[in-house]
Amino acid sequence: MKHAATQGNTKAARFEQAAAKVAAIVSPTPEEAAAEKKFAAGFVARLSRLLPGAKVVFIGSAARDTGLRGSRDIDIFAAFPKGAEEEIVAKTFAAARTCAPGAKWEKHYAEHPYLQAKVGGFTVEVIPCFAIKENQRIISAVDRSPLHMVYLERNLNILQRRDVRVLKQLLKSAGIYGAEAKIGGFSGYVCELLVLNYRSLYELLQEASAWRLPVVIDIEGSYYQDSKAALARFPGAQLVVVDVTDKERNAAAAISTDSLASFMTLARAAVANPSTELFFHKEKVPSDSAIRTLLSRRGTHIVLVKASAPRIVDDIFYPQLAKTRESMVAYLKRRGQALIDSAHFSDGKFTYLLFEFAYPKAPPVEVCNGPPASDSQAVAGFVSSRKKTAIRGPFIREGRLVVEVSRILPAQKAVAEYLRSCRSLGTASHFQKPLKSAKVFVGQKKVVAAVSPQAKPEIARYAFRACHWL
Ligand code: CTP
Repeated sequence: MKHAATQGNTKAARFEQAAAKVAAIVSPTPEEAAAEKKFAAGFVARLSRLLPGAKVVFIGSAARDTGLRGSRDIDIFAAFPKGAEEEIVAKTFAAARTCAPGAKWEKHYAEHPYLQAKVGGFTVEVIPCFAIKENQRIISAVDRSPLHMVYLERNLNILQRRDVRVLKQLLKSAGIYGAEAKIGGFSGYVCELLVLNYRSLYELLQEASAWRLPVVIDIEGSYYQDSKAALARFPGAQLVVVDVTDKERNAAAAISTDSLASFMTLARAAVANPSTELFFHKEKVPSDSAIRTLLSRRGTHIVLVKASAPRIVDDIFYPQLAKTRESMVAYLKRRGQALIDSAHFSDGKFTYLLFEFAYPKAPPVEVCNGPPASDSQAVAGFVSSRKKTAIRGPFIREGRLVVEVSRILPAQKAVAEYLRSCRSLGTASHFQKPLKSAKVFVGQKKVVAAVSPQAKPEIARYAFRACHWL
């Protein structure tokens, strides 16, 4: 039998071999990195001359060598010591337009406006912000970014920067990289803090394999090594990564429960068998007939709601769509439907809500849960409206009134009933109008045909759902 320490070393060595291979593929080439830095330095110098009152800095992953090859994102921040928001935005925008007059600058909104354009093959973002000191109150979330840059430049060593790139690739391959609402995964900044905290990617993955949630990572000891105090500040959080420049912020707040759980199982897989395939999973998009066959083989009943997509930014669109689906799921269950699973996705033009039922119809007895016995007015109303149609009841269960009626409700009818009253049933604001005029498709063949080619990978992902590392 091998000695435990030797086994550990062998494992670490195997991981290092794989990490080195991955790093060679995903790291920007020295030429690419140098070209990015040269371009950014020139842009910063020009912008600085035009904005003498501001400190102009190149920040983000490209600036600190933690970005992936081919990303070509250049983030330039103009930090103003003071001023009204409109004023700093107007000054920065005018200066950016003068710096690259030929570029097609597009205005974007995060918490406040910034500009984005393709310049010289790079995607340049110019972001005005207010200069702050550590733990000083921010005016906008972007105000912290220049402080992150200073901190990470000082604290991340070269090997750790390589490890951050490898970690990003691992998460990307698993679909959990990015803090945007659509993904609910790990931001680049969180990747940097995780590697820094555990000193290396291998140690991070080993530790994460054995995490007992909730976990608190507080590199600067802002909560004096008192996890309870940190958790009290972020109630309900399963992973707290205290922002090193602002102890009031949990940098990991955007990570969903499922992304976190996925990461822990992924970490175990990467430590146990660090094959390069784990880092470069390629999703196949099967043919329509393969999707249909797989769905048919399940023997379930499928209903798809297709509505026009409201034109709103992704960070509002996806949380609203998720909330809408949740309200539909809750309604369908209340109506006695045996729901196996559901999904939501969009191709930008249309929104899709997919529901998979165990049976095409609910059982013949529908349970109507009424108000709690203590609410006298509601009880009287419930009894008078339901008593006549009841086949059993009214009776009391767990403190509430219950009536059972004889009704065989087809799944698609329950869906249609939800759509008709979606406004009062919990549909998020931007989806109320589109859902009112949505189309409903029933059965594998019609459902698969109704999904646009752009959204096909999403329905395929539903049909073939599996974590590639498990
Ligand atoms: N940032 C943050 N929290 C986030 C996203 C971004 O604090 N959830 C800050 C970080 O300071 C980050 C900067 O905004 O460095 C720029 O963010 P972004 O361009 O989204 O990411 P990068 O850090 O450049 O990393 P990458 O694009 O490689 O993911």
